[in-house]
Amino acid sequence: MKKGFIFDLDGVIVDTAKYHYLAWKNLANSLGFEFTEEQNELFKGVSRVRSLDILLELGNYTAGQEQKDGWLIQKNEEYLTYIEGMDASEILSDVPRVLDFLLEKQQGVVLGSASKNARPILKRVDLFDKFHDIVDGNDVTAAKPDPEVFLIGAEKLQIDPENCIVFEDSIAGVKAANAAGMISIGIGKKEVLHEANYVFLDFTEISTSFLEQLIAGEK
Ligand code: BG6
Ligand code: MG
Repeated sequence: MKKGFIFDLDGVIVDTAKYHYLAWKNLANSLGFEFTEEQNELFKGVSRVRSLDILLELGNYTAGQEQKDGWLIQKNEEYLTYIEGMDASEILSDVPRVLDFLLEKQQGVVLGSASKNARPILKRVDLFDKFHDIVDGNDVTAAKPDPEVFLIGAEKLQIDPENCIVFEDSIAGVKAANAAGMISIGIGKKEVLHEANYVFLDFTEISTSFLEQLIAGEK
C-alpha cells in the first residue's frame, strides 16, 4: 500500500522556528514593542507577509506598503544570516530515521512548507534528496490554513488526499491538513495542537509500528 507522507519544514524537520521568532522579535523591539514566545505560536505556519501584518497589529502599529516591504526584506535578511550557520546537527531528533523508514517502504514523501527558504534549508542540512518533491511558499497562492500546499503535494505524488498523512507543528498547518481531508499528526504540545488526529512531542515518540499502521491504513 502506498501512502503520501507530507512534512512541514520549520519546527518539524528543523528547529528554525526559533530563528523566525528571533528575527520578528528584533523587528518588534526596533519598532518599540515586545513580542513574546506565546504570541509567536500564532506565527507558526503563517506566510511572511501575513506574519508582518499580525506583528504590526499586535504592536498597534500602522505603516505604508513601502515601509512594510522594507521590513519584510530586513526580517528575511536577518533570518538568512541565522540559517547560513545551520548544518545537519539542527535536524530534529529521529527525523532521518522516519524519513529513511518511509523511503525504504517505498512510500511517497514530499515537503509542504509555507517558507520561501525551504529549498536552501534542506540543502544546507543535507536532506534535499530525501524528498520526492517539494511544495513551498513559492508554489502556493493561498497560505495555511488553506489546504492548497498539501493538496498540491498529494497531486505531485498522485495519491488521493485521504491516503496522505501530514506532519505539522503549527495550528494553521493542522487546520490545513484537516481541511485537505488528510490525517494530521501534530508535532508539539497536545494543548496547542488539539485539532490534530494524533500528537507527539517529537519524532522520537513515533514508533515503527505506528508508521506501519499508517501505511496499512489501520490508523
Ligand atoms: C513557515 C514558518 O514554515 O514559513 C513561518 O512556520 C514563516 O514562521 C513561513 O513565516 C514563511 O517562511 P519564510 O522563510 O518564507 O519567511
Ligand atoms: Mg512549521
